[in-house]
Amino acid sequence: MNPTQPRRPHAAFRWTVYVTTVVIVAVSTALVMSLFQNIAQRKREAEQVVFSLVDITEATVDPALWGKNFPRQYDSYMRTVDVERTTHGGSEAFQKLDEEPVWRTIFAGYGFALDYREERGHAYMLTDQRETQRVTMLKQPGACLHCHASVVAAYREAGLEKGAGGSLTDPLLSETGLAQLRQGFEAMCAMPYEEATQRVDHPVTCLDCHDPETNQLRITRPAFMAGIARLAESDDPVPHLPSVERWRRGDRAAEYDPNALATRQEMRSLTCAQCHVEYYFKGEGKLLTYPWHNGLKAEHLEKYYDDVGFSDWTHKESGAKVLKAQHPEFELWSQGIHARSGVSCADCHMPYKREGAIKVSDHHIRSPLLNIARACQTCHRYPEEEILARAEGIQNRNRALLTRASDAVVDLITAIHGAKEAGASDEQLAEARALQRKAQWRLDFVAAENSMGFHAGQEAARLLGEAIDYARQGEVEIARPRAGAP
Ligand code: HEC
Ligand code: HEC
Ligand code: HEC
Ligand code: HEC
Ligand code: HEC
Repeated sequence: MNPTQPRRPHAAFRWTVYVTTVVIVAVSTALVMSLFQNIAQRKREAEQVVFSLVDITEATVDPALWGKNFPRQYDSYMRTVDVERTTHGGSEAFQKLDEEPVWRTIFAGYGFALDYREERGHAYMLTDQRETQRVTMLKQPGACLHCHASVVAAYREAGLEKGAGGSLTDPLLSETGLAQLRQGFEAMCAMPYEEATQRVDHPVTCLDCHDPETNQLRITRPAFMAGIARLAESDDPVPHLPSVERWRRGDRAAEYDPNALATRQEMRSLTCAQCHVEYYFKGEGKLLTYPWHNGLKAEHLEKYYDDVGFSDWTHKESGAKVLKAQHPEFELWSQGIHARSGVSCADCHMPYKREGAIKVSDHHIRSPLLNIARACQTCHRYPEEEILARAEGIQNRNRALLTRASDAVVDLITAIHGAKEAGASDEQLAEARALQRKAQWRLDFVAAENSMGFHAGQEAARLLGEAIDYARQGEVEIARPRAGAP
């Protein structure tokens, strides 16, 4: 036989191959079919088990009951009690005032000079608020609870007491549900903290982020609904919020409503933006308000406060009327490259993890730097150490600039205080005090934001640069010789 010719198999052999192939195909098809059937049946069983375990309604506040239906999400949610520190963040609630005493000077005369801690996991939000000296030693309104407890049912109950129609189990996003929510929100904002806090039992729970009927993400916080509607009406570009941009181009007949218009990817950030934002209490009713009427940048918020003539307190040493910034994570993230690229809070803080055949969103919300493999490596194909080095590179530069900016603000406070002691008049100090307000607002905006600059490194650097400049301008102003000065 010519070895270069292919060997023609014997006819009987070909027949055997044919039969064997048919048998193998038939058997494996049967196997695959029964496997699919099995999976489908299992899935049906699982669904049945899920939906027959506990009947979840708008009144189901206790996360343990939701946990019976969704044990994986519940287990990771419960892990927000964990305490782990990172170089610049993490969840160890140390006293920031001891770690960096400059803040006692910067906050002189305000509650934050008493007690100001590193934040930690969601499991602690209610107890940490009840126990802070800013609550135990000062008078606070019920408005504080909006972001520290599961308030949906409590607001609605308070709304029902005020005479809103319907019942607690009406869908939240119905006309009656929303009317109950709004009226209860207003009532509870105005209550003394001690009274309002007795109406809640849990930190943020499933009901606050999920619809009990469909499990879809939803917005439940009245202050946020109002805040984002004002933002939509401003002309600050928000390319990272495409549904807001679309609303602006539309007929604008109804106000912007995230529950009706936001995309799923937007909701993965907006659910967090209900609380991780700057706020103040408006007027006698202490109505919780987000100052987004001009846009989301630090100077937009500042302009709103200037226009309405708001200040948080009068600085004890300098006499300046100043602002306190609070955790503007959503605002700073909005200025960064990740937001611009469509990366949501949940992408980094609640990354998917695989459990068997199922993808589960990690409800153990925490520093993503404790979880780089799942939080970052899905998009950044570098080794863990390299990703950590890049993130900490941004943070270390921010940290260094933050120290310079806080030193500059303290120097200005000292200079104004000195001039005041030497007999300078309010009129003579007015310009320097205005500069302190500007400098301190920018410094605190970056310091109170919890990512140590990571969420938008360049924006944070811009603000700190301006803070240093305003503070040093203030010092120059104080040093300027003036007619009739002593
Ligand atoms: C690209 C990933 C990414 C996105 C998107 C992101 N974060 Fe972060 N976040 C980080 C990193 C990294 C840190 C720094 C953690 C550290 O220093 O340990 C951080 C820190 C934080 C912290 C402080 C955590 C701690 O351990 O102290 C909070 C709170 C936070 N982010 C909230 C948000 C919110 C709210 C959003 C959306 C508006 C958001 N983040 C979007 C990556 C992200
Ligand atoms: C708009 C939502 C919101 C409101 C309103 C709010 N908080 Fe918070 N609070 C947060 C967020 C988000 C954190 C975590 C980030 C941080 O600590 O910066 C936090 C952290 C805290 C902490 C732990 C860290 C610290 O500062 O010591 C305390 C205590 C606290 N808040 C008390 C209060 C009190 C008292 C009020 C009312 C005067 C209040 N909160 C109102 C959202 C809010
Ligand atoms: C109802 C208000 C509320 C909502 C909604 C909320 N948070 Fe928080 N978050 C808080 C408060 C308050 C704290 C601080 C708790 C404390 O220090 O006791 C906190 C703490 C955190 C921390 C710090 C955890 C740690 O270990 O230090 C991260 C990270 C965080 N939140 C991210 C998110 C993300 C991401 C979302 C959206 C998926 C979100 N939060 C939704 C109020 C909220
Ligand atoms: C602070 C907001 C928040 C809270 C509180 C919360 N979730 Fe979620 N949950 C999310 C986000 C964000 C997703 C991702 C949804 C998406 O991508 O569409 C999610 C997804 C889910 C999903 C869909 C499957 C998955 O894992 O992606 C289930 C089920 C779920 N959550 C159950 C729960 C349960 C049960 C609780 C209470 C123990 C809870 N959630 C509390 C924000 C929250
Ligand atoms: C869903 C995808 C996604 C995830 C998750 C993600 N990133 Fe990014 N990251 C991007 C994109 C997109 C850019 C913009 C640059 C580009 O287009 O390549 C970027 C840019 C960066 C940059 C350079 C920009 C800057 O801020 O200086 C760093 C550093 C970075 N990411 C770190 C991280 C870290 C740390 C994590 C995890 C905590 C993370 N990223 C998670 C998509 C992602």
